[in-house]
Amino acid sequence: MTSAAQDPQALDPAGVNPAEVRAMDRALELAAQGVRGANPLVGAVVLSPEGQVLGSGYHRGAGTPHAEVAALADARSRGADPAGGTMVVTLEPCNHQGRTGPCSAAIHEAGIRRVVFAAPDRTAQAAGGARWLQDHGIECDGGLRQAQSEHLNGRWLRATAESRPFVTLKTASSLDGRVAAADGTSQWITGSRARADGHAIRARVDAVLAGTGTVLADNPRLTARPVPTDEAGAAGDAGSPPPAQPLRAVMGLRPVPQDAAVRGPGFLQLATHDVPTALAELHGHGVRHVLVEGGPGIAGAFLAAGTVDELVSYIAPVVLGAGTPMFPPVGVPTLTAAHRWVPDPAGGGAVTQLGPDVRLRLRPADGDDGDDAAADGTAADRTATGRTTAASTTAAAPTSAGTATGIPVNPSTPQHNQE
Ligand SMILES: NC(=O)c1ccc[n+]([C@@H]2O[C@H](COP(=O)([O-])OP(=O)(O)OC[C@H]3O[C@@H](n4cnc5c(N)ncnc54)[C@H](OP(=O)(O)O)[C@@H]3O)[C@@H](O)[C@H]2O)c1
Repeated sequence: MTSAAQDPQALDPAGVNPAEVRAMDRALELAAQGVRGANPLVGAVVLSPEGQVLGSGYHRGAGTPHAEVAALADARSRGADPAGGTMVVTLEPCNHQGRTGPCSAAIHEAGIRRVVFAAPDRTAQAAGGARWLQDHGIECDGGLRQAQSEHLNGRWLRATAESRPFVTLKTASSLDGRVAAADGTSQWITGSRARADGHAIRARVDAVLAGTGTVLADNPRLTARPVPTDEAGAAGDAGSPPPAQPLRAVMGLRPVPQDAAVRGPGFLQLATHDVPTALAELHGHGVRHVLVEGGPGIAGAFLAAGTVDELVSYIAPVVLGAGTPMFPPVGVPTLTAAHRWVPDPAGGGAVTQLGPDVRLRLRPADGDDGDDAAADGTAADRTATGRTTAASTTAAAPTSAGTATGIPVNPSTPQHNQE
């Protein structure tokens, strides 16, 4: 690393150049447009040998093209040939075959001469892209804006390190934070556009989870379905839902009735009250992104366990007065102990109006103040790249809970790019 990146003009000519620094900042902005879930947020920009932008792209969620492939396609769609150019990307190119092919091979086939990446990929499944590229004669520099890239994907990195799915908690409540009226009725607090948006999220996760309380009270199907809306173009959620149905998981000890709507192929009962145990079981079933839909017992348990990576909260302009609160008491004796959240600009924006309702997209504050520098590309981290050899990239793989860059990664089972 060189501190010369404080002034991009002064960078070591053998390292990154100003065009690459600008491209990385743009790639970070693009990355933040993706949806959170099974895969990290990644953006990419293709530069010509002269440093002109030929194309750019970002990853739109599991099962869709990775950022590098999207950027190459964008360049070609503009009539540009990426051969001889530079790929600037916020994560080390993957080196594995999932639902999509390895990005390392796509970069090689495109004739890219040089790759500049932000964060190394330390996951067992996809790591090794830089080494593979270098072995195939492509120059690689890593570490430019690494802190921003890792901050952007902080909760995804944590979930991966803990060998558990990324957890999105969805709530739908009244203005006064009630998820059901005094008599227990809760269908429907929000309008059709908010419900359509919720179904779009269901369609791109690996599993939907509710508690036995919700199943016994509401008999939900927990499937992803189109919701008729009163307005055209209703769904406000970013990303293209894949056609597959998620697993339907019910957490709790009471038996799920044989005639419950949630039963059938893809149904799973998690007979436990322990959140890590439930998440480990889901992970064992290949689940890398779970949508937790409550009710309050389950929502509170996930919150108390510190395992909510993303909160999607639909708020309807109704007041229920008495009724079921969104969360039970979750161990907050005083204001300073509150569970705090910050707006998450990823995935289409932190605040979205959906008909009469509002969708908040939040992420845990995790000690930061919500000034999401990584997402807006203006972070003060001016760390320049150091020349990253394939050896140094792989050497960064952690041997304990800590790493050279301070990211806790469990070396035994991390997975990447659940495709
Ligand atoms: N508006 C909304 O978005 C929304 C969404 C869902 C539900 N709701 C409403 O919420 C109400 C149901 O609330 P609920 O709290 O009973 O539903 P729930 O959270 O879905 O289920 C609670 C049950 O989950 C099980 N459980 C498993 N692990 C747990 C843990 N660590 N902590 C606590 N419980 C655990 C327990 O069942 P066992 O005793 O079987 O172990 C518990 O009784 C209904 O009125 C429903 O309509 C509203």
